[in-house]
Amino acid sequence: MAKKRFINKVAIVTGSSRGIGSAIALALGKEGAKIVLNGRDELRLKEVQTELTQQGIEAVYYKGDVSDFQQAKELSNFALQTFGKIDILVNNVGISSRGYLADLDPSVLEQVFKSNVFGTIFPTQAALPSLRQSKGNIIFISSLAGIHGLPGLSPYSASKMALTSFVESLRIEEHAQQVHVGMLQVAMTEIVHNKEVVAADGSKQVLAPRQKGKVLTMQQVAQDCLSLIDKRRYKKTQTLIGNLNLIFNRISPLIVESILRKNLHKFEENSK
Ligand SMILES: NC(=O)c1ccc[n+]([C@@H]2O[C@H](COP(=O)([O-])OP(=O)(O)OC[C@H]3O[C@@H](n4cnc5c(N)ncnc54)[C@H](OP(=O)(O)O)[C@@H]3O)[C@@H](O)[C@H]2O)c1
Repeated sequence: MAKKRFINKVAIVTGSSRGIGSAIALALGKEGAKIVLNGRDELRLKEVQTELTQQGIEAVYYKGDVSDFQQAKELSNFALQTFGKIDILVNNVGISSRGYLADLDPSVLEQVFKSNVFGTIFPTQAALPSLRQSKGNIIFISSLAGIHGLPGLSPYSASKMALTSFVESLRIEEHAQQVHVGMLQVAMTEIVHNKEVVAADGSKQVLAPRQKGKVLTMQQVAQDCLSLIDKRRYKKTQTLIGNLNLIFNRISPLIVESILRKNLHKFEENSK
């Protein structure tokens, strides 16, 4: 059996009551980490906690909205009270919206920026003193949408781009403290749950399941996240398309823009 890489490490995974966050929590737990789950829905959190404990993983949860600094602080305090330290913070919280800017209710922008930017920066700020002590890891879960702004996803793309600059600044600021800061640019991933996004009018919209084989599994995303932590690497961009996007965007963003314009129909279909 392969060596467990995170024995006795304490990991907070924000937004782990379902989806990719729960897969990352499970993968870290299977490799020996003690897990602090987080989300705003207690029922879902209990389900994930039960799944983890049934596999012999030590897991607790903190129900709270991490886009509120006080609750982000309480999440860190809860991890410290329960396990005595914080080694790993995975900033996985992220929500998306659908619609062109011209059609968006202003509340949509607020919701997306609040969860994706403040919901990522506040848990980081709150956990930093402990992460400095443990010389730990902070991972930001970003997206291919953070490489070049995508149509119909402008608030989401912009919020993920904001994370890029936070990561850049933090890496320099925390270098002397030996805190590792990394970022995973996730490609389109399977949906095995009723994943919700924010519709143009601000209401919730449930996404249809995505065609298997054409998208990543949540386990693939989780393994890439674990590898970044283990190797203390800076960045990984998933899939060939993601990497081509990076290269073309570096050569000229106009290339990516014209590809996106030509494939607008396909693209809009995929992002439903
Ligand atoms: N799925 C994809 O195809 C894909 C592609 C690229 C990048 N990503 C990124 O991967 C991450 C996870 O995506 P996902 O598809 O797994 O999302 P998801 O299924 O919608 O899950 C999001 C999780 O975050 C929690 N959450 C949202 N806002 C929160 C807040 N303010 N405070 C605390 N918890 C909050 C949700 O729980 P509650 O609602 O119960 O609070 C849920 O547990 C996101 O950062 C996303 O941008 C996903």
